[in-house]
Amino acid sequence: MGYSGKRHDMIVRLRQPYNAESALIPLRESLVTPLDLFYVRGHGNVPGVDPLRYRLEVSGLVEQPLIISLEELRNNFPKATVTAVLQCAGNRRDELMEVTPIPEETPWGAGAIGNARWTGAPLRDVLLAAGVGAETRQAAFLGLDDVEDEGGINYGSSIPIEKAMSPEVLLAYEMNGEPLRPEHGSPLRVVTPGYIGARSVKWLSSITLQTEPSDNPFQAREYKLFPPNVTAETVDYSEGLMLGEASTNAVICEPSDGASLVAGPVWVRGYALAGGGRRVERVDLTADEGSSWSQARLSEDEDQPWAWRFWEASLDLAPGTHRIAVRTFDSASNTQPEDAGAIWNFKGYANNAWHKIKVNAR
Ligand code: MTE
Repeated sequence: MGYSGKRHDMIVRLRQPYNAESALIPLRESLVTPLDLFYVRGHGNVPGVDPLRYRLEVSGLVEQPLIISLEELRNNFPKATVTAVLQCAGNRRDELMEVTPIPEETPWGAGAIGNARWTGAPLRDVLLAAGVGAETRQAAFLGLDDVEDEGGINYGSSIPIEKAMSPEVLLAYEMNGEPLRPEHGSPLRVVTPGYIGARSVKWLSSITLQTEPSDNPFQAREYKLFPPNVTAETVDYSEGLMLGEASTNAVICEPSDGASLVAGPVWVRGYALAGGGRRVERVDLTADEGSSWSQARLSEDEDQPWAWRFWEASLDLAPGTHRIAVRTFDSASNTQPEDAGAIWNFKGYANNAWHKIKVNAR
């Protein structure tokens, strides 16, 4: 076992604070990602929070500000479980970095993602108990971790009030049926299914209802999408698209990029997701640069709109080198761009270009 009970084959991107992603073959083994395999993304150190002394503050445009202990949250509010994928906006950044370098950002592969069963109180119920003021447009969250790189501020973000009032958004205290682990935000975190991972604030200390998005740097500056011509030197952070709903994406987990295989039928397997509660409807594979496509078989749809879906297909590979690419279509017929170059951005977010591997069949 590695850090904090994580598997030793995690790909560690940073030791302090611990940031790691899972290797793709183990990630594809279980629809619900085991805790020891679930990626960790933290901007600051893991704060040690005593669950007995923990309090959540709810304030801002509310009728009645609240201060809630963990016990009150467990006992006085409904308990709901949602299976939802959590994906870092930087997932697959390494492919963007091959197009044009992105210095100072973590070179995440395609394993900064996982699918968990989250249990907690629906945020909606807590907000209803406080009374949502008519002017409210945003729910802002603040964490307890100090982020040194940003001058020692606490991590924060916000989501639109319509999303905050949707039943799938949880104040989670359990992950896969176990108490939330320290690195995943214990004792309490927000889980915002269908959105980029950055909006699921860990070690939650307060919720503020307000008219504007959070002015925390992780909402106001980071996690914004800029066109390919904007660079770190030319950027105006007041512009750019504030990332919210995750984009439609599919990844080949097996075989690995660069693998040597026996020619003949080869199983290709991976994951696919559709952001914003849309469904993954189809996954296609090509081994001839997109001239022809074969359709993969999708895992059972268990009516879990916030989860990912697994897929697999058998491709008949003749001896030689093959480039295999995958793309998915969601229930709004959204699909993925062919090339990462078209969506390159200097922060390296939201790469959902066709995922491509090269294999050698003998
Ligand atoms: N919440 C706090 N308080 N601090 C953080 O650094 N990182 C965010 C989000 N919530 C972060 C946070 C980002 S960028 C991601 S992708 C997810 O948490 C990662 O959640 P995980 O570490 O449980 O996988």
